[in-house]
Amino acid sequence: MNLEVDKHRLMSEIEELALISDAEAPAVTRIVFTPTDLIARAWFLARCKEAGLAIRQDAIGNIFARWNGQDPNATAVATGSHIDAIPNAGKYDGVVGVLGGLEAIRALQQSGFTPKRSIELILFTSEEPTRFGIGCLGSRLLSGSLSPEAAKKLTDKDGAPIEQIRRAAGLQEELETVKLPAGHYQAFVELHIEQGALLEQKQIPLGIVSKIAAPSSFRIFIEGAGGHAGGVLMPDRRDALCAASELILAIEHQAKASGSTDTVATVGICEVFPGAVNSIPSRVNLSVDIRDTDLQRRDSVIGAMDASSHVIAAKRGITIRQELVNADAPGDCAANIVETLSESCRKHGLSFLTIVSRAYHDSLFMSRIAPVGMLFIPCRNGYSHRPDEYASPDDIARGTLVLAETLGSLAG
Ligand code: GLV
Ligand code: MN
Ligand code: MN
Repeated sequence: MNLEVDKHRLMSEIEELALISDAEAPAVTRIVFTPTDLIARAWFLARCKEAGLAIRQDAIGNIFARWNGQDPNATAVATGSHIDAIPNAGKYDGVVGVLGGLEAIRALQQSGFTPKRSIELILFTSEEPTRFGIGCLGSRLLSGSLSPEAAKKLTDKDGAPIEQIRRAAGLQEELETVKLPAGHYQAFVELHIEQGALLEQKQIPLGIVSKIAAPSSFRIFIEGAGGHAGGVLMPDRRDALCAASELILAIEHQAKASGSTDTVATVGICEVFPGAVNSIPSRVNLSVDIRDTDLQRRDSVIGAMDASSHVIAAKRGITIRQELVNADAPGDCAANIVETLSESCRKHGLSFLTIVSRAYHDSLFMSRIAPVGMLFIPCRNGYSHRPDEYASPDDIARGTLVLAETLGSLAG
């Protein structure tokens, strides 16, 4: 196989997709099933059709673009990621895995290689939790990690039901048809930016992931008593925002005190009601994200957060109610795929680092039904989920080359 990645085509596609956005460049905002996201999906489908891939779309909008292999009975090898982007994000998160996956297939095609197994490119729906509050919606449903019944209860921030939203996006089949059986894929490999700074610091061009950290998230509803900012004296207050502040700091403290820097906790959403300068906050809704590479340690931080909620609620005479959104186990990458990725790096004379993924990815859920592997490329300063996220064309092309080599080996 003489593989040649067309770096210029790939970079111009990344730039083109970045312009399909609800934020002003260089920022990218692409929330699932918005008109902008639907335009981006149509654009992606057109690129897949140009590459001669056979398209299927499931009921949640996961897109499967298949290069048929010689043996129709052999299980397929898959790659892919997501193109939805959180508000005010960058161009590369997810996109490198989708467009890099497409370019890897084109490089294999152009080399004259004919795969025995089919190679399938997957665009997963809503890896980001922005719209429905839960991340990896497409891969969760596909792997059976989220039941169709639970998925049907999801609504967006404005209360619109997911069933209505996806049907308006043209997805008419039932969610029950999305799940794929274990063994449906021979292997799944995802190319992604690191979203951390380790590769850059060590000046190593590639990371081969060994394990994906365990994510969890919660919604917290705090209810106190509102009132006039001048009229209600301090001893009489039950201020929901003051309680929230105490809880946020307790969560931060508990993550820092876990004994490991692998524990991370973030309160990324804080909604305050009624939201007037001269009105005491009566209600606050928080969204909390707690992760660790170690499940027990993560769960002990969750336990400590629960305990703090009780103490703060009792002390301040308010109520704090918690709702679990997700608490997922970590995922392991498969030894045979780690080995194939390593072999591909060696073949091209590229050094690599074995690395843990602290971000979650669709690979985490694909690991419930298939052997998975992940390949990381560096991103400047480790920045991600911000407009100045950047991965160099050379790093993107290197990752795509190793992905192509790996898909070729796995597809036989
Ligand atoms: C994925 O975007 C994550 O938050 O890890
Ligand atoms: Mn992301
Ligand atoms: Mn991502």
